Amino acid sequence: MTHAQSNVARSLREAPASEALRSAPSVATGPAELAEVLAGLDESPRRLPCKLLYDARGSELFERITELPEYYCTRVELGILREHAGEMARHIGARALLVELGSGSSRKTRLLLDQLPELQAYVPIDISRSALEASVRSLRRLYPGLDVRSLVADYTRSFKLPLPAELTQTASKLVWFFPGSTIGNFEPGAAVDFLARLRQLRPGPQQCLIGVDTPKDRAILEPAYDDAQGVTAAFNLNLLQVVNRRYGASFLGRGFRHRAVWRPEEGRVEMHLVSRYRQTVRVAHHTLQLEPDEIIVTEHCYKYEPEDFARLAGQAGFEVECVWLDAQRRFSVHLLQSA
Ligand code: AVJ
Repeated sequence: MTHAQSNVARSLREAPASEALRSAPSVATGPAELAEVLAGLDESPRRLPCKLLYDARGSELFERITELPEYYCTRVELGILREHAGEMARHIGARALLVELGSGSSRKTRLLLDQLPELQAYVPIDISRSALEASVRSLRRLYPGLDVRSLVADYTRSFKLPLPAELTQTASKLVWFFPGSTIGNFEPGAAVDFLARLRQLRPGPQQCLIGVDTPKDRAILEPAYDDAQGVTAAFNLNLLQVVNRRYGASFLGRGFRHRAVWRPEEGRVEMHLVSRYRQTVRVAHHTLQLEPDEIIVTEHCYKYEPEDFARLAGQAGFEVECVWLDAQRRFSVHLLQSA
C-alpha cells in the first residue's frame, strides 16, 4: 500500500475528533453489567439480557432478519411510515428535537427526516458503536444540513441527552422515536417505568412515535422468530459469544439450540436457548449447571392490541394522539403526547 493509500484507509477508519461518537460510560462492560448477567442466570428460568444481542455481529444479523420473508415487522412498519410520514410530520411540526432509541441503521428515520425539513436536531442513540458510526456517516451525506448528535449508550440505563442549552431552548418539543416494537422487549411494568422515565428526562412538551407489534396467529409469529434460513438462530446463539468475550464465559454454541415460542396467555414471543445436554458453564468466577433441555430465556417480545398499549402508555403519563395500522392490523405506530 502506498503512503497516500494508507492515509485514505486511516481516514476511513478514524473519524476526525470533531466527529468522534459520544459514548455514555454505561456501555462499557462494567461490574453493574456483569452483575445483571449473573443475576439473570440465577433466575428460574435462567435469563440473559436481550441488549447483549446487539454487538457488531448481532447488529448485522439483525439487519438480515429485517429482510427475511418471515419477519414481517420491519416491512409492515416501513409501509406504515411510508404511507403516513407526511401526516406524522404535520403532527410533530417545526423545530422539534428528534431522539431515536436503538437507531441501528436509521433506515426508518429517513422516511421521517424527508418530511421534517425544519428539525432542530436528530439524536440517534444505539448500543452498537459500529452500527451507529455507519448510519451517522450516511446521514451526514444524505442530509448535509441536519444537526446530528449521536450517542453510543445503553438507553435502558440512565443517559444524558447530548444537547447544549442553545438547542433545547429554541426547540418546540422533544420527540422520542422508538420504532421496531422494541418496547415489547420490556416486561409490561418495566415498559411503563421506562416510558415514564423518558417523560421525566426533560420538562416541557413531548411526543413519542412508537412502533408496537400486535398479537396474531402462532403460525405467523413463531416462524417470524425462527426463520427457515436460521438467521434468527444465529442471532440468538451469537449472544453466547458476546457473553464469552465480555465476561470470560465458556458457553459452547453447539451446546444449545434456538427456539421461539408464542405464549398467547402472556401476549409474548419468547426466544430461548435450549441446552442440548447436561453441561457446566463458567461465567466470570461463577459456574452453572445446565440440565438437558434446560432453557435460557434471551428475549421476550410482547405484542399489544392498540387499546392495551394505549392503557400502558397512559400509566406512564402519555396519551394517544394518533394510531396508524396497516390494513391487516399486523403492526401499529402510535403517536403519544405528554398528558
Ligand atoms: C428489534 C427488538 C423489536 O423483538 O422483534 C427480532 C428483535 N428478535 N428477531 C423483535 C428480534 C428476534 C426485535 N426487536
